[in-house]
Amino acid sequence: MLVTVVLLLVALCADRGCGEEGQRAGHVSVVVVGGTGDLARKYLWQGFFHLYVNQVGGGHTFSFYGGGLSPAEAATPVLFEILKAVPCSKDVSEERCAILKEQFLRLSQYRQLKTVEDYQDLAEHIERQLQQEGMREAGRLFYLSVPAFAYADIAEKINGTCRPAGGPWLRVVLEKPFGHDYRSAQVLATQLRGSLKEEEMYRIDHYLGKQVVSKILPFRTENRKVLDPIWNRHHIERIEIVLKETLDCKGRNAFYNEYGVIRDVLQNHLTEVMTLLTMRLPANVSNSEEVLRHKLQILSSMLPLGKNQAVIGQYQAYKAEVQQELNKTKDHVSLTATFAAVLAHVDEPQYEGVPILLISGKMLDERMGYARILFKNDVFCLQNHHSVHCKPKQIVFYFGQGSLQYAAVLVSKNLFKPALKDQEWKEVTEHADVIVLGLHISDYYVQTPVKEKEAYAELISRILAGQKNSFISTENLLASWALWTPLLSSLTGSFPRIYPGGADNGDMLDIHLKGKEIRYNSEVVVIGPDQIGGPSPSSFQVMQGKFRSADMVSAWTEELVERLAADMEEAAEAVVNEGSLFHLALSGGSTPLALFHRLALHHFSFPWWNTHVWMVDERCVPLTEVESNFYNLHQHLLRHVKIPYYNIHPMPVQLNQRLCVEEDGGAQLYEKELGELVNGSSFHFVLLGVGYDGHTASLFPGGKLSEFGESLVALTESPVKPHQRMSLTFSAINRARRVALLVMGKGKHELVTQLSRVKDTADKYPVTGVKPANGSLVWYIDYDALLG
Ligand SMILES: *[C@@H]1O[C@H](CO)[C@@H](O)[C@H](O)[C@H]1NC(C)=O
Ligand SMILES: *[C@@H]1O[C@H](CO)[C@@H](O)[C@H](O)[C@H]1NC(C)=O
Ligand SMILES: *[C@@H]1O[C@H](CO)[C@@H](O)[C@H](O)[C@H]1NC(C)=O
Ligand SMILES: *[C@@H]1O[C@H](CO)[C@@H](O)[C@H](O)[C@H]1NC(C)=O
Ligand SMILES: *[C@@H]1O[C@H](CO)[C@@H](O)[C@H](O)[C@H]1NC(C)=O
Repeated sequence: MLVTVVLLLVALCADRGCGEEGQRAGHVSVVVVGGTGDLARKYLWQGFFHLYVNQVGGGHTFSFYGGGLSPAEAATPVLFEILKAVPCSKDVSEERCAILKEQFLRLSQYRQLKTVEDYQDLAEHIERQLQQEGMREAGRLFYLSVPAFAYADIAEKINGTCRPAGGPWLRVVLEKPFGHDYRSAQVLATQLRGSLKEEEMYRIDHYLGKQVVSKILPFRTENRKVLDPIWNRHHIERIEIVLKETLDCKGRNAFYNEYGVIRDVLQNHLTEVMTLLTMRLPANVSNSEEVLRHKLQILSSMLPLGKNQAVIGQYQAYKAEVQQELNKTKDHVSLTATFAAVLAHVDEPQYEGVPILLISGKMLDERMGYARILFKNDVFCLQNHHSVHCKPKQIVFYFGQGSLQYAAVLVSKNLFKPALKDQEWKEVTEHADVIVLGLHISDYYVQTPVKEKEAYAELISRILAGQKNSFISTENLLASWALWTPLLSSLTGSFPRIYPGGADNGDMLDIHLKGKEIRYNSEVVVIGPDQIGGPSPSSFQVMQGKFRSADMVSAWTEELVERLAADMEEAAEAVVNEGSLFHLALSGGSTPLALFHRLALHHFSFPWWNTHVWMVDERCVPLTEVESNFYNLHQHLLRHVKIPYYNIHPMPVQLNQRLCVEEDGGAQLYEKELGELVNGSSFHFVLLGVGYDGHTASLFPGGKLSEFGESLVALTESPVKPHQRMSLTFSAINRARRVALLVMGKGKHELVTQLSRVKDTADKYPVTGVKPANGSLVWYIDYDALLG
């Protein structure tokens, strides 16, 4: 008898794809907080009803609670009206549907969930019921369909009162938005962590419940033999993930105007699809831990996104909608993007240089969504252009709508015939006469799900099964925000291109890719700030002036860094065009990291092949440690650009297996190398920063700097750890043809103010000793540092 029961449970698990946590059948209490809201009405109750129907006659038993702030008398009828309207799926007969619905209604009730006492009452009710009916509890599922600001409070109440004792599980489902940038996502994550364990949280992205999206990893796995050799930069031309909408934002503007399309769609849905397409294949696609780890790895190896990796737009009527809905005056301007196209790159050899386009917008010409892997096609057809091998080679994961009405995976016939191992999918051979992404449907192998499933219903059943691979872990969420936040901040104050909406958009939103940068293809009327009102453009411009009688460039951080990178590139090109090698000395510290990222994006145009990179200073630690300046330079710049190894000159701080010992002569060694390779030991370009105490390079206040005499390189002492350093001296710095002093951040404002007043006193403010004898000095100071 015992054996039979165990077998039955195993069979159940196999059937329903139980997660790693395993499933023991029992009673499940489902609580939808916000149970009479819009999302619950449209999707959630339908999902829970399907869950119930699928479990009838085996598996779990249920009770359902719709929760909300309203008192039960008022809200109960509303909830039941919603529940009664929930449809059955097509394969359930009408009579059976009526019976099931009747049962479902009997298992459901409304509860006011406002105070701790309300949650306490709910917990007591659940326990009483379990006891009275002698049921074993499997778990409690809370679905928070409420605004995100309420999450922390509700989670705390759940933890305080509704946590089941002993074996049963607790699962709490959260809906986006999970913050609006890295910082706020982190704050929310920290608050939630106080009340819920990571494994108890299910952050939903309904895209991961779409059948075609769920199919990406299995498809890649099933066709691994064919795909492995071509899933790389040698064969992939481009990856596109596109979601086009025809709707506007009416009725949603209070939310939308704060978020915009990047936060609403790109940061979550499209990013998830991108990771599924590019992540390393897990050995086991059902292993959540492995799937999430591989996703995280891809998210962490994306090249940084900045202003030049995005174009944004706003449909024309948006401004008026916002004015009306948010009760603003006629001169109010919203810079919220309702369209965005972003160009991303994965910084891994497998995908080097492969453009990944993420695009979404409102008020476009059609409603459709897809992810396409377009392969290179090296065949040139002289005569018969229609022959199959001349046509685009592509794999399309088609989410639905548009010209093809159903969800499907499409593989061009000139690529390969995909395997069909999954019983839930079938091949389609009868087609309407349609073109999908440039190919007639008959030029594809087409696979589609045997049975259509609704994304929420699908995800709800995975929550019950404890399958976490379709949900967003805290770590992955933060990694996604770490990718998107810098882009969002760099777009602050940018004016979106205004587009008319629908078919009238014509080619206005077409995109042009150039290296690592993206632009609009047509330079049509760029509607400037004067046409739509708002802040004057000068506040976003680069300003030039004088600082300490040298030249100064000032701008907001992003523009400043871009300008410095451009100046550096120009200097490099001038030298290389003369037929010489460009000698560049770079400083360490955190200030130049933004510049390094920017330079990494100049990957294609900068003459890296003819550039030698030297260090301004180095800490006396092994070069492989994170404290090493060279290590950071390597991580943030050198490994992203094509520069020959022998052009890279780290400082020899480690000799004879020890660090910076005078008699090992590291400084002299570097000076000698400099003398041998650089004409007159005179760098073409030296980048310096300034510390809070006025130090530059590793030349610190009171550091007896005059004692270095004619030496170009010296060992120095820092007041902060690690104390020992190696540094270029003023003799070396002041020989340079050009020196750039980069100063950024509010924290440096005080120093900048002092520096603008003090005389040259290199002993107290070493940076004042920077005075190129035959070259030029330019200060690059951002507005935060300059204006405070
Ligand atoms: C839940 O509440 C208890 C106290 O009731 C607390 O000790 C615990 O840390 C809270 N958080 C989690 C994740 O259990
Ligand atoms: C794949 O992972 C799932 C969940 O961890 C596990 O149940 C299953 O046995 C694994 N399959 C294989 C072939 O290892
Ligand atoms: C809109 O603004 C008007 C005038 O300022 C005010 O009287 C009205 O209450 C506001 N309505 C809303 C919905 O905020
Ligand atoms: C080295 O620099 C000197 C002075 O700037 C210049 O006249 C000379 O042409 C340079 N030599 C080479 C080989 O570039
Ligand atoms: C500046 O240039 C002059 C003439 O070319 C040269 O003699 C002198 O050494 C240079 N000074 C430095 C510090 O490079």
